[in-house]
Amino acid sequence: MESSLPSFQVLGFGGSAERKNDAENYNEVMSTLPKVKGLRGDDYYLYQGFWYSAFFLEGLMSVQEHFTPQSTDIFVASFPKTGTTWLKALTFAILTRFRLSGSTTSSLLTKMPHDCVPFLKYNLAQNPSNRDLAIPLLSTHVPYSSLPKSIISSCCKIIYICRDAKDAFVSLWYFHANLQRSKNVEHLPLEEAFELFCNGIANHGPYWDHVLGYWRASLEFPEKILFLTYEEMKKDTAAHVKKLAEFMGCSFTLEEEEEGEVQKIISMCSFEKLSNLEVNKNLKCLQDISIPIPNSIYFRKGEIGDWENHLTPEMGARLDDIMEQKLKGSGLKLPR
Ligand code: A3P
Repeated sequence: MESSLPSFQVLGFGGSAERKNDAENYNEVMSTLPKVKGLRGDDYYLYQGFWYSAFFLEGLMSVQEHFTPQSTDIFVASFPKTGTTWLKALTFAILTRFRLSGSTTSSLLTKMPHDCVPFLKYNLAQNPSNRDLAIPLLSTHVPYSSLPKSIISSCCKIIYICRDAKDAFVSLWYFHANLQRSKNVEHLPLEEAFELFCNGIANHGPYWDHVLGYWRASLEFPEKILFLTYEEMKKDTAAHVKKLAEFMGCSFTLEEEEEGEVQKIISMCSFEKLSNLEVNKNLKCLQDISIPIPNSIYFRKGEIGDWENHLTPEMGARLDDIMEQKLKGSGLKLPR
């Protein structure tokens, strides 16, 4: 069947007949979904209650169908722009600290955190050469309710991070604006993007439903899902690094604590350190379909409350009201 939808050959499929078949099936599903114009002027599709661009939706449908985790896998989960890069760096540094002898330096100094902790892709489990199986860390932006059943029914652990919605929105808008600028393409004015965000329209949005899905799951399965916020992690990073290590089953020994291991990890993963590394300042990663993304756009300010410099008090109050309404009764109150 001819389709006007984006071809999945372009989106990383192509090759085997099976993949071609998958792509055709996904195209067919997408042609039945409600769609709207998204942040970059491309179509977003409503799938299982959340909005996705074609690129992300293709990825989601393929992992739902094909992905099987290792039982020891740990997933870093988040809505985009809520602290994923930082959490990836911290979890990676904590888990790999035993590998480092005096002469070895952490991969975090030469590789982008997103390259150290790869995003969930269907072929990661099938082909071991696609990941370092000795480091059981993967990441995802997929909402809890849409995670592959193979993950939900496994004993894999999940670490979720979220942040104040206003800061998440401003960070998201800058990310898209900088990305468009790097491609010499015009970007959506902040006010228009804000309107979309308030209506729940963003990749993997609505934001509040994303947060609520993981929040409720963390209440139901506290031993499997650790729920964190960017703000609390900023306020007491040391306590969170220890909590992360404990949750991942590799607590710091007293000796390590005395030797300042926790502080070393905090410093190595700090915004200042990571954003000034050559790899994160001047190199690009290939996570986008059309053009490599400059690593530097994953590091903007790394502060709490920067929204005040970009949104009016009225815009801030509007998003706060929406969040309050949506989170009502859940027991969750996000720090601001
Ligand atoms: P700002 O745009 O508010 O500066 P994500 O990693 O989910 O894409 O989120 C990006 C946000 O995390 C950006 O926020 C970015 O600056 C911030 N960030 C990136 N690395 C960080 C780090 N090591 N420590 C604290 N914040 C960091």
